[in-house]
Amino acid sequence: MPVTLFDSLPIEQTGVTAEQEIKALREELAEQNYKYYVLSAPTMSDREFDEKMHRLQELEAKHPELYDANSPTQRVGSDIGKIDSFPRIRHRYPMLSLANTYSREEVEDWVRKLPQGVEIVAELKYDGLSISLWYEKGKLVHAVTRGDGTEGDDVLANIKTIAEIPQSLVEREKTVSLKEKSLISSGIPDRLELRGEVLLPWERFEALNKQREEDEEPLFANPRNAASGTLKLQDSKEVARRGLTCYLYYMLGEQLPGKTHYERLELARQWGFPVSEAIKVCKDVDEVMAFIAYWDTERKNLPVATDGIVLKVNNLAEQEELGYTAKSPRWAIAYKFAAERQLTLLKQITYQVGRTGVVTPVANLEPVQLSGTMVQRATLHNEDFIRQLGIAEGDRVYVEKGGEIIPKIVGKEETDDSGGSGSSSSSGFSGFPRTCPECGTELVRVEGEAAWRCPNEVSCPPQLKGKLEHFVSRKAMNIEGLGSETIALLYDKGLLHSIADIYDLRQEDLAAQERLGEKSAQNILASVEQSKQVPWARVLFALGIRMVGETTAKKIAKRFKSIDALQWASKEELMAIEDVGEQIAENIVGYFADIRNLEIITRLQAAGVQMAVNESTDERLAVPQVLEGKTIVISGTFSEHSREEYKQMIEDYGGKNSGSVSKKTDFILAGENMGPSKLEKARELGVRVVSEAEFLEMIQG
Ligand code: IVH
Repeated sequence: MPVTLFDSLPIEQTGVTAEQEIKALREELAEQNYKYYVLSAPTMSDREFDEKMHRLQELEAKHPELYDANSPTQRVGSDIGKIDSFPRIRHRYPMLSLANTYSREEVEDWVRKLPQGVEIVAELKYDGLSISLWYEKGKLVHAVTRGDGTEGDDVLANIKTIAEIPQSLVEREKTVSLKEKSLISSGIPDRLELRGEVLLPWERFEALNKQREEDEEPLFANPRNAASGTLKLQDSKEVARRGLTCYLYYMLGEQLPGKTHYERLELARQWGFPVSEAIKVCKDVDEVMAFIAYWDTERKNLPVATDGIVLKVNNLAEQEELGYTAKSPRWAIAYKFAAERQLTLLKQITYQVGRTGVVTPVANLEPVQLSGTMVQRATLHNEDFIRQLGIAEGDRVYVEKGGEIIPKIVGKEETDDSGGSGSSSSSGFSGFPRTCPECGTELVRVEGEAAWRCPNEVSCPPQLKGKLEHFVSRKAMNIEGLGSETIALLYDKGLLHSIADIYDLRQEDLAAQERLGEKSAQNILASVEQSKQVPWARVLFALGIRMVGETTAKKIAKRFKSIDALQWASKEELMAIEDVGEQIAENIVGYFADIRNLEIITRLQAAGVQMAVNESTDERLAVPQVLEGKTIVISGTFSEHSREEYKQMIEDYGGKNSGSVSKKTDFILAGENMGPSKLEKARELGVRVVSEAEFLEMIQG
């Protein structure tokens, strides 16, 4: 973190040596580079940055003996870490797990078996993923995941996006002059390790899933999975956007201050680490049980997920005496909260048709209170799920709500007449419907898939509404003002029964709707007009042909530059396009075989929607495909364009980006400071290394 600088004051007056100033500037500028390039969140103005860079250059020029190849003056700020995978690091102390139990009696036993008078620290068990933070001389130098307990991934760049985690422990003493600033005075040891849990708060988790649903990406089942998926991302900017948080609960190192675990946590908090307030030193088993009982309900009000309570012997000497098993310490235990479970009546199974035509069975239950909410519906997923549970309407079923927010049915109450064997053969389930409950079309079940689907994409109401929502979405036609409720309203009023109807909407029809009014009607129509500029590739994506996502649509649009060309494409021609497999090709051919789709297309064309590459407005797709079929790896830093721009150029010119060098790599686009391991691999495999200038000539020539 920035240390106070002595700006333009001559060295002599500050009492700071040139060496010290160079060091401080290098650290500060490197930090800013990171914030600028990786986090997109600089905390210094460009001007200030430039002035400091000049000062550093000046000092380095005067002191060639202090040359360092890693100085920010010698390196271009880079976003390294985006495509290289994480370095593996061996844990200094193995990352053990905890013995756990779901039984309060076992907890009582464990406490009672401890030597008389032992104090126990009770903490919340946070449900995320564990991280080990390494500090050297007060600076965060590694952030290692548990991995296999012996070795983990260093995800430092991603961890640095978590605001609560201090990156430098001197930072908090800003008012102290540099000379006085010393780690020793604050008692912070040179080497320090803090362990804790990385979490994605509920609110962030829900927002992330909402966004993923809109983008038709798979949802995360719970915040833990979301946190772990996020921490593994190679793109720290995206990690920063998602908003992880962290709680630390364990301090490790040699000759650390403090005689008890509690004291160390207090110290950690003083040093600026995020340590939970929900910690209690318990003197006896009753206090432990009271802590458990309190948090069993209170934890539901916390912003992050917890799945139990951790109990630790407080005194470190006593911990030492108790020691470890191969897997876990004997001085700690985790009590896990059982997922709450209730028995209720399964009144009826109804069937819901989703936006993609998948028919999902839903259990309609006698309302029951579960983890603070009233549950009356639960998904039954698909036909196989119902048969496996052996449930049918009229059964009494168990409903559970665990780490997943969605309640689920986990079994049924065995009665005498059901045989008590748990077998599904006695199930009274009358079978899955054969026709769509929304439009009556006969359902199809794709081989190898569990789901039944309604094939009537064009006019089955939920599918049609889904198609409309997709068509107007941000990444597709980006038409504002048409949210799902408005779409449903206009659908019900008979104004929107196909995507082509959007271009026939009239001001007076829209304004006449109670929820809209003149102004919103105008805005919608302006946005509809604007959408006529959307390039062909996005229009193709917007059509919502099954499995044709954003990237695939781009690739198809590059090969078939107009809808007229695309509609005559054969399955084989389509399959020749990268990423287009048999299923997608069949979906496209099937789409154009349906006369109702052809009518829609004719209407969209007549309305002025871009159904072909527009050479003037859509240059990207018009460029010669000189890199067609080439797999290219980018490495190092560049001067003419940014790394992102080169990636885009590779795609625009028909090539494919790849993160690692392999036999399939056609060439490496190498800038300055290309990674040595990549260079070695390239030599080994005889892969060509192309310079920035050569590359530009290649595509421009
Ligand atoms: S102490 C040697 N304290 O639970 C003791 N762990 O299986 C190290 N966890 O891997 C762990 N909250 O990821 C500890 N307050 C807490 C915790 C906690 C969550 C996680 C941690 C650990 C797992 C135990």
